[in-house]
Amino acid sequence: MKNKINLLKEIDAMKEKNNYPLVIDNIDVGEINLKNRIVFPAYHSNYSNADGTVSDKLIDFYKAIAQGGCGLIITGTAAVSSDAVAFERLMRIDDDRYISGLTCLFSEIEKSGAIPAVQLIHYGRQALKAMTGHDLIAPSAIPCPLMSQFDPNYHVREMTLADIERVRNDFIDAAVRAADAGVKVVEIHAAHGYLLNEFLSPYSNHRKDDYGGSLENRIRLIVEILEGIRSKLGSKIAISVRVSGDEFVDGGLQPSDYKEIIPILEHAGMDMLDVSVGVYESAEKIIPAPDLGREPFVDIAAELKQYATVPVCTVGSILSLSAAESILLSGKADLVAIGRAQVADYELVNKSLAGRENEIIQCTQCGKCIFVNTGDPEMYCVVNPSLKPPK
Ligand SMILES: Cc1cc2nc3c(=O)[nH]c(=O)nc-3n(C[C@H](O)[C@H](O)[C@H](O)COP(=O)(O)O)c2cc1C
Repeated sequence: MKNKINLLKEIDAMKEKNNYPLVIDNIDVGEINLKNRIVFPAYHSNYSNADGTVSDKLIDFYKAIAQGGCGLIITGTAAVSSDAVAFERLMRIDDDRYISGLTCLFSEIEKSGAIPAVQLIHYGRQALKAMTGHDLIAPSAIPCPLMSQFDPNYHVREMTLADIERVRNDFIDAAVRAADAGVKVVEIHAAHGYLLNEFLSPYSNHRKDDYGGSLENRIRLIVEILEGIRSKLGSKIAISVRVSGDEFVDGGLQPSDYKEIIPILEHAGMDMLDVSVGVYESAEKIIPAPDLGREPFVDIAAELKQYATVPVCTVGSILSLSAAESILLSGKADLVAIGRAQVADYELVNKSLAGRENEIIQCTQCGKCIFVNTGDPEMYCVVNPSLKPPK
């Protein structure tokens, strides 16, 4: 007991000395304890092997970020179904054969000091048949305004009840595989206009059955997935849900809609709310360019936090630990995700905590890492010497 008291005193003294006392304050997400409040968000890199298995390059990338000091790393995104493989080298989790590689990935992240998470995805209408090799499916047969421009034969069909049941089971099975591989947190991707976001939003869901119309119906598939994961895994893993707090499209979800949405998600088993924004039609918001300014979406997270009892994570052009500390101090979020700035300098967290901020290689938000826009085969970073552009 005495030792424990001494240890707590030491931690308090350390926090007093540190410039980022709120950043280094640990936090529970479900039953999983995070050592600090900095998250590395899902960041598809195209670093997996061509068959969707985990590659050495993918492991090295996440290991470096974990060693850099953040508390939670959300790997992926990972495809839950064979018709959700929208990139040639997307991480996959739709079969047991992916478990061994994922086990290695999650264990390396944990050994390097961070809690491993994985984001689970189905792309729905925001893909191309040429990419997935399968018919595109969505709650309603409404083409994606962006993707349909890239293929004159673009076609999406409305999901049958059998499709919905299959996708629900795919998400649940994927979470079970992730848990078997040692993950501590699974994140359900219900943001950015992908399949589960399409169900949730009246903008993309015009169904007339039990999965469309009222909020209770539009949210049903996500609730069934959350409840299914909980019933299979109990509280062994924590569940995060990533949402688009504002879709930034006419008729789409807005922050106030979450007053009703969040309590339903919490009741179904959500342990953490990860607040992003946008859908493909408002894609410029998803990975905000510098002209949107610093931390443009923190107030959206703050509004959603009013409706939540679980920890809330904010994201978007947060480039330093001092920005993260201010956000935490304002009470607008409980966790802060830093994507591009941690890719620019894996050591952003450690260097800041050690008072070596002037040594940090700054992210210039040049946009080159968004390889889907540049046409490059995989993610690279112009300022991180270990992430050189592909030849
Ligand atoms: C190359 C790249 C890949 C991304 N992949 C994903 C993804 O797979 N899933 C997701 O939810 N967000 C993805 N994002 C969005 C990030 O998680 C994050 O929300 C966004 O980059 C804004 O944060 P930042 O300004 O700190 O980079 C990606 C962003 C980039 C730059």
